[in-house]
Formats: sequence, structure tokens, C-alpha cells
Amino acid sequence: MVQEVIAKTKLISFEDITKTYQLDTQKVHALRGVTFDIGKGDFIAIAGPSGSGKSTLLNLLTLIDTPTKGRIRYNNVDVDTLSDNEKTLFRNKQIGIVFQSYNLIPVLNAMENVAFALQVQSVSTAESLDRAAQMLKEVGLGTHLRHRPSNLSGGQKQRVAIARALVTNPSIVIADEPTAALDTKTGMEILDLMKELNEHKRTTFVFSTHDVRIINSVDHVIQIEDGRLIN
Ligand SMILES: Nc1ncnc2c1ncn2[C@@H]1O[C@H](COP(=O)(O)OP(=O)(O)OP(=O)(O)O)[C@@H](O)[C@H]1O
Ligand SMILES: [Mg+2]
Repeated sequence: MVQEVIAKTKLISFEDITKTYQLDTQKVHALRGVTFDIGKGDFIAIAGPSGSGKSTLLNLLTLIDTPTKGRIRYNNVDVDTLSDNEKTLFRNKQIGIVFQSYNLIPVLNAMENVAFALQVQSVSTAESLDRAAQMLKEVGLGTHLRHRPSNLSGGQKQRVAIARALVTNPSIVIADEPTAALDTKTGMEILDLMKELNEHKRTTFVFSTHDVRIINSVDHVIQIEDGRLIN
């Protein structure tokens, strides 16, 4: 009963967000007034056809891009009031990003790739490698610490990328089609891993997907079509 009346803590709000790209003389309306909240600990899939605005929305969430109109708040702070420097600092500390194509550094092994995310935050090399090894164990790669990306499968590479996103203890992990490069079975394993990390660490996850099996197994789905949310 008590739990029912306690409001979930809001992490992010999108208030009437519009994104219009200018392509030569043509305007592309990628987002046409999008409003939603993300709560702490949420696990949200963003689904919609190709060109519907999923990547545009995620690029705004990561603060890589800025909206044409509307307000984005993180922890009640209007991100528009932050300088570029403050945004970068905020992103490094609070946001973990996972890419469809992993974006691992080929010459570094799994442990070094994950440790790199800490080293750019001035954590010592020894501590970075230690925490990277621990995080890789948590994603099931404890036996592959010294493998380079070229010696890992697609699913294993995505596990390394997820470990890299999580090792800094961000409050949110944002992933654009993290399973698109994987076969369905491996994609479902990555989804299960993200769910497990969400449940155990309470890290918020927001990710886009085309995969119907994934959409059907996630409680909270944001559907987007032609730049608008549909329910
Ligand atoms: N940098 C850009 N300049 C101009 N138009 C863009 C740019 N990025 C995206 N668009 C356009 O904005 C719309 C939304 O694109 P977006 O990449 O967000 O879609 P998506 O849902 O991620 O698609 P997909 O499932 O294919 O990845 C599309 O019409 C796209 O062509
Ligand atoms: Mg996309």
C-alpha cells in the first residue's frame, strides 16, 4: 500500500520535443512534439519503423544532439542551461552508451577496452583494470579478459560494450539497436543480460529495437511513428 503511493523518482523528462533537420532547402521533421518521462530504474524499449525518429530521440537523450524546440530535464535540471563542457562532464559521469556496432578499440583487449572508460575519468590504470575485470565477470566474460575484439563473437563484443557502458556506474544506459547486429538467440541473451543488470543494479536502460521478440518481452515500450508517440 505504502509503496503504491510513493511516486517513482523521475530521472528524465522530454517536454514537447521537436527536432527538425535542415537538408539543403528541405526541412525533415524527425520528431514532432514528443513528451514522456523516464523514471529511475526503468527498462524501456523504443520501437517504430525505419525513419520514425528512434535514433534522433536517443541522440537527444545522450545529449549528443539538441532539440529544435522543447525542454529536456535530467534530475530536474534543464539541460539547455548547461555549457558544452558541463554536458560532456555530465555525459561521462551519468550516461553509458552502447552502439549497434560495438565501437570497441581493435588493438585493446576486452579488459583494456572497458578500463579505458575509467581512465578517461582519471581513475588510475591499476584500479581501472581491476574494476574492468570485475565488470566483465558480471557480464559473463571472466574467461575472456585478454581477448581482442577480433577474437570475440558478436554477442561477446556486445557484452564488452555493455561492461564498458556500466563500469563507470552511470545512472542510465542508452543503446541504439544493441541487438540488431546479432542473431535472434544472441540478441535475446543480450536482452536478458540488460534485464538482469537493470534488476540487480537498478541502472535505467533505454534502447531502440526492431525485434518483435524483444518488444514482446519488455514491459515498457515507447512506440514511435513518423516522429510522434503512439499508444
Ligand atoms: N542528420 C540528419 N539530417 C537530415 N535528416 C536526418 C538526419 N538524421 C536523421 N534524419 C531523418 O530524420 C528521420 C528520422 O531518422 P532516425 O534516424 O531518427 O530514424 P530511426 O527510427 O532511427 O530509423 P532506423 O530504424 O532506420 O534506424 C528520417 O526521415 C531521417 O532521414
Ligand atoms: Mg536508427
